[in-house]
Amino acid sequence: MPNQTGSSFSSNIIPIIAGTIVALSLFWAFRPIITFTFTSPNTTTTFNTGVNTYNIFSGPTISGHEFNHTHDPPEPTFYDDPDLTYTINKPIKNWDEKRREWLWLHPSFISGIEKRVMLVTGSQTGPCQNPVGDHLLLRFFKNKVDYCRIHGYDIIYNNLLFHPKMFTYWAKIPSVRATMLAHPEAEWIMWADADAVFTDMDFKIPLQRYKNHNFVVHGWPDLIYKNKSWTGLNAGVFLIRNSQWAFDFMDVWSGMGPQTPNYEKWGEILRETCKDKTRPESDDQTGLVYLLLKEKEKWGDKIYIEDGYYLEGYWKNIVGKVERITEKYNGVMKSERGLRRRHAEKVRGYSALWEAYLEGEGWRRPFMTHFRGCQLCSGTHNGLYTRHSCLDAMEKVLNFADNQVLRSYGFVHTSLGDSESVMPLPFDYPA
Ligand SMILES: *[C@@H]1O[C@H](CO)[C@@H](O)[C@H](O)[C@H]1NC(C)=O
Ligand SMILES: *[C@@H]1O[C@H](CO)[C@@H](O)[C@H](O)[C@H]1NC(C)=O
Ligand SMILES: *[C@@H]1O[C@H](CO)[C@@H](O)[C@H](O)[C@H]1NC(C)=O
Repeated sequence: MPNQTGSSFSSNIIPIIAGTIVALSLFWAFRPIITFTFTSPNTTTTFNTGVNTYNIFSGPTISGHEFNHTHDPPEPTFYDDPDLTYTINKPIKNWDEKRREWLWLHPSFISGIEKRVMLVTGSQTGPCQNPVGDHLLLRFFKNKVDYCRIHGYDIIYNNLLFHPKMFTYWAKIPSVRATMLAHPEAEWIMWADADAVFTDMDFKIPLQRYKNHNFVVHGWPDLIYKNKSWTGLNAGVFLIRNSQWAFDFMDVWSGMGPQTPNYEKWGEILRETCKDKTRPESDDQTGLVYLLLKEKEKWGDKIYIEDGYYLEGYWKNIVGKVERITEKYNGVMKSERGLRRRHAEKVRGYSALWEAYLEGEGWRRPFMTHFRGCQLCSGTHNGLYTRHSCLDAMEKVLNFADNQVLRSYGFVHTSLGDSESVMPLPFDYPA
C-alpha cells in the first residue's frame, strides 16, 4: 500500500469561539430591504436584507435559542415545486436562493447556522456476511452517535440505495444529495463511511478554517498533484457545504458512476490518470483525484485538502499508538487537577483547556480512524491483512474511543483489548 503516513497527530487548531459575531454571506438580499429583528434577553439580532448588506449580531444567549418546529408558513418554497427531485437524475438550480428563501420563512433555524453539521453514514441494505459484521456496524454507529451527541450534531443512517445502480462507495452521493434537500438548516453535511471511527471525542472540527471552501477531504496535495496517486486523498470521510456548488460538483462527480453509460470508459480514464490504481472499475476516490487534477480551476479553489490532522486516519498507522496516547493523556491529567475533574457530559469547556497541553505534541489523539481494507461487513478483507489483525485493531480502537465517552459515566474498559467488561473509575482518577 502506498505511503499513508503523510499526516501527523499534531495540528494547529484554532479554537472556535462560540457565539462571537458572525457574518453570513448566505444572507445577502433576495428581496427588497426588510429588517428582521430578533430580540433575546440581552442581545439583538438584525438582518438588513438590502442588496449586499447583512448584519448579524449575536451574543451567547442566541446560541441556546430553540428551533420552532411547528412553524411552516403557507408561502411556497422549493418543497412545493413539483419539478424538483431528490434523485440524482435531474440537476437542481438556484439552490442558494431557494435555501435562503426557506430560511427566511423559517428564521428560527438561522442563528448558529454556520456551525450546523449533519452527519450522514450508512451501510449495505442486507445483513452482513461476516458473522460479527452487524455487531461491529452497531458499535461503529454507536461511536458516531456518541460524537454527535457530544457536539450537538444531527445524524442520519441510510442503508438504502437512493439510486439502484449506485452501490457501495457510490451510494454516498445520492444520500448526501437527498440530505441537503431534507436539511436546508444544515450548513455542512459530513459523510463518514460505516467503518470510520471518531477517535478523539473532544475534537471539534475547525469549521472556521473552511469558511472559504465548500468541500473538505483528508489528503496530501503532493501525492495528488505530483504523484497523481489515487491514494492522495481519502474519500471515506468528507464535509460538503449545503450549496449550489455542492449539487453541481456532485453531478459531475457522480457522472463517473455505475449508473451512467460511461462507467467503463471512466474506469479506463481513471487508470490512465492514476497509474497506481489497480482495480479496473471507476471509483469515487479516484474520481475526486481526477477532478482535482483535470478540473482544478473549476473545483480546486473550493476544495480544502486537509492534512493538518487526521480527518481520516489509516488504522494501520494508528492502532499501535493508542496505548501510548492513553498513557500520555493520563500523565497530563495526573499533573493537572482541572483536567481530571468530573463533570457532566454536556459541559464542554474542558476540551478547550486541553488545547494548551496538546499544542505541538506528537501524540494528540487522531480525530478519525478508518478501517479501510478490513471490509468489516462482508469480511472479504484485503489480502494484506489477516482477519484477526483487523478484528483486534477494531476492538482496540473502538474501546479507545469508547473510554473517552465512558469517563463521563464513571467507567472505563478493563483493557483496550476487552470489549466486554468495564470497571468503575475511582474518584479523581488518575491522580
Ligand atoms: C511520490 O513521488 C515521489 C517523487 O517522485 C517519490 O519519491 C515518492 O516515493 C512517491 N510517493 C508515493 C507514495 O508513491
Ligand atoms: C443579561 O443582563 C442582565 C442585566 O444586565 C445580567 O444580570 C445578566 O447576567 C445578563 N445575562 C446574560 C446571559 O448575559
Ligand atoms: C412557532 O410557530 C408557531 C406557528 O407559526 C407560532 O404560533 C409560535 O408562536 C411559534 N413559537 C415561538 C416560540 O416562536
